[in-house]
Amino acid sequence: MAQRCSASEHGAIEEAARILASGGLVAFPTETVYGLGADATNAAAVARLYAAKGRPSFNPLITHVGAIAAARALALFNADAETLAAAFWPGPLTLVLPKRDTCPVAALATAGLDTIAVRVPAHPVAQALLARLGKPVVAPSANRSGHVSPTTANHVLADLSNRIDLVLDAGPTPVGLESSIVACLGDTVALLRPGGLPRAAIERALGRAVTATSEMPVAADGAAPRAPGMLASHYAPRARLRLDADAVRPGEAVLAFGPNDLPGAERAAMTLNLSAAGDLVEAAANLFSHLRALDRADVVAIAVMPVPHEGLGEAINDRLARAAAPRT
Ligand code: TXA
Ligand code: MG
Repeated sequence: MAQRCSASEHGAIEEAARILASGGLVAFPTETVYGLGADATNAAAVARLYAAKGRPSFNPLITHVGAIAAARALALFNADAETLAAAFWPGPLTLVLPKRDTCPVAALATAGLDTIAVRVPAHPVAQALLARLGKPVVAPSANRSGHVSPTTANHVLADLSNRIDLVLDAGPTPVGLESSIVACLGDTVALLRPGGLPRAAIERALGRAVTATSEMPVAADGAAPRAPGMLASHYAPRARLRLDADAVRPGEAVLAFGPNDLPGAERAAMTLNLSAAGDLVEAAANLFSHLRALDRADVVAIAVMPVPHEGLGEAINDRLARAAAPRT
């Protein structure tokens, strides 16, 4: 049975680090979503992590470290990678880079690729845990594979309670969307997953546009799958999602955005608004918890109002499209 522990409780970080060091699984907050951590250098711990999530082992993990110096020990940084790391770390950015031959991360964690995804999270609890452990930590979102990512400790326990050793509770995560994943391989910079760092911020730091995902292979040799985790159906609640709804149908719940009501709003089974003010940052922070809350047994479908595509709207619309995709 997983223990829940307030991250601010005396000794909580030390206990979490002790569990990780002995091969256990600890869920912890990052600024994006809660991650399920394991010692990245311990292959047995990484295997337990895949099993706990029910994750296909071809889907590689993000390695988290406390600072850029530790990231440089794992991966090769070109000039673009240095620019992005200097601009946005610590923060909601993951870089996919060529893996160093001497990289101590278990091969299982990178699923046999010759690239590695690395990130320096900004959340003070994640920072404290990484500092205390002094080793890289692999951490996928702390949900069962295919489910909506957790933005609270309760979400983590709803999915994984008897499969992990500890969850460090520090309240809701501030960003609410997973990190933006950017590959810096050769001369190309590609956005593999839109996320908590808007595309425009990345392009401003680089001084040029980033390549569309579909043009960029992930492996340095171009052979491996492009973005192994980007399965069409992902982030899925049980209820069906109906996107760009312009009216509410009988039995539907409503995921609203902005100040206006849809026609038929009064007959909705339940309504939650991502942001009544139409603020995309607030909408991102609310997205996954609202999807979970609307996903009730008595709800026929979730009608989703249109969300603009600019800024964090790119990632919000990406997650909504995946949540709406037919299940396999
Ligand atoms: O915000 C986040 O990124 C959260 C927090 C916990 O850090 N983590 C997260 O991890 O979202 P996860 O495992 O749910 O998503 C990792 C994504 C997957 O789509 C995976 O395929 C991709 O990163 N990935 C990992 N290594 C890769 C690589 N070498 N090349 C391309 N994609 C990679
Ligand atoms: Mg995930």
